[in-house]
Amino acid sequence: MPVTVVVGAQWGDEGKAKVIDLLAKDHSVVARYQGGHNAGHTVVVGDEKYALQLIPSGVLYSHVTPVIGNGVVVDPVTLFDEIDRLEARGVSCARLKVSSQAHLIFPWHQALDAIAEEKRGDGKIGTTLKGIGPAYAEKANRNGIRVGAVLEPTTFAASVREQAIAHRSILVEAGHSIDVDAVVDRYTMLGRRLAPYVTNTVDFLHDAVDRGDDVLLEGAQATFLDLDHGTYPFVTSSNPTAGGASTGSGLGPRLLDRIVGITKAYTTRVGAGPFPTELTGELGDRLVDIGREFGTVTGRRRRPGWIDCVMLRHAVRVNSLTEIALTKLDVLDTFDEVKIGTGYLIDGQPFHGYPDRIDLLERVTPVYETVDGWNTDISGCRRADELPASARRFIEIVEREVGVPVRIVGVGAERDAVVEWDSKLVAS
Ligand code: GDP
Ligand code: IMO
Ligand code: MG
Repeated sequence: MPVTVVVGAQWGDEGKAKVIDLLAKDHSVVARYQGGHNAGHTVVVGDEKYALQLIPSGVLYSHVTPVIGNGVVVDPVTLFDEIDRLEARGVSCARLKVSSQAHLIFPWHQALDAIAEEKRGDGKIGTTLKGIGPAYAEKANRNGIRVGAVLEPTTFAASVREQAIAHRSILVEAGHSIDVDAVVDRYTMLGRRLAPYVTNTVDFLHDAVDRGDDVLLEGAQATFLDLDHGTYPFVTSSNPTAGGASTGSGLGPRLLDRIVGITKAYTTRVGAGPFPTELTGELGDRLVDIGREFGTVTGRRRRPGWIDCVMLRHAVRVNSLTEIALTKLDVLDTFDEVKIGTGYLIDGQPFHGYPDRIDLLERVTPVYETVDGWNTDISGCRRADELPASARRFIEIVEREVGVPVRIVGVGAERDAVVEWDSKLVAS
């Protein structure tokens, strides 16, 4: 399996990092291909918890080369905070490679993110305020500064100055301040520190594939936060879907042979936007409490709901998913019954496919199939036949509805809290 992609199949925080850490054991390279420090990826190893934003989740293995690909937007302040925090805990980041073609995030991007959100008023997206949208907008406008620019410190400093001045008036007008000289000095220093990591990662990744090394491409965010395929405008500004893995890494689509979609056994969403299977009452509060559904990056409470197989079927289509990893099944352990969204009704009529307009999505009534709760602690299960019959039934219904096999089932946050699943070997 030379190139594997891991992609979120819902609205983010599905447990991608845990699955990537698990798969990274058998890979030589783990590369991020989009997004930036809006991501919050958690890996738990024994008593140690690592919350990663920009550094690929394979970093904990010394045999893995972590790569930040060309499709990522890089905030160097966060990058070095993260490197310093990891190295203080004994995790070396010396092998890290950062694409010369990735774009840099500057303080004006963060300010512009806040200004745009303020202007939206009640129509706020609820962004992470990390400057992601403005940085990608500048890339699309062909005004961005790429990571490779730091290799020429004099012209880099001049570009930073030019951009800081260009953004000053709009920032000041909106009540933000910017000290141009201080920004230039700070980013010149950060640029010097970044220079040794700068790499032609497209060639690096191809050379790895040519050598027969196994490469893992790490998605951030998720299918329904995708700029094209998500619930626009309540989305992020990049393409987390599998096509984005090609553009954001430079590895062409024919090289991607295993595409793993990650879904929780229920659904969560941070920020605004439609959510057909949302649970607003006591059941939702229990999902949030038991699943500890608070954002790693912003600390915000995640909105909870039942698993939605209509979404997952669409995720299979737009990503060419070859398999599913179903995480956090243990969070459902104490529920008397568990629901699985299997269809959508709009105006009382069955809807085929996934609504392509947000006004349609807002009118959806989900159709559910219900299974009895298993009322058993499954966190100690490591084999499929150790799972209670009702939990197995739940997995089988998800497989049937989604149409691709479930291969990995998460039963706890820790690295080894997984069950390998093969429905052919499990009798219900
Ligand atoms: P990501 O953004 O997709 O990498 O996911 P996050 O790290 O933001 O959120 C997932 C949370 O669920 C983290 O706190 C993980 O430690 C935790 N987690 C992952 N898999 C499981 C699982 O199978 N069971 C439980 N209980 N927690 C899990
Ligand atoms: P990981 O990789 C969940 C959401 C924000 C907001 C929208 C746009 O941890 O799954 P942005 O700052 O990207 O412009 O915000 O996207 N969002 C995420 N939600 N997990 C994430 O990342 C997210 N990254 C962005 O809450 O609704
Ligand atoms: Mg997350």
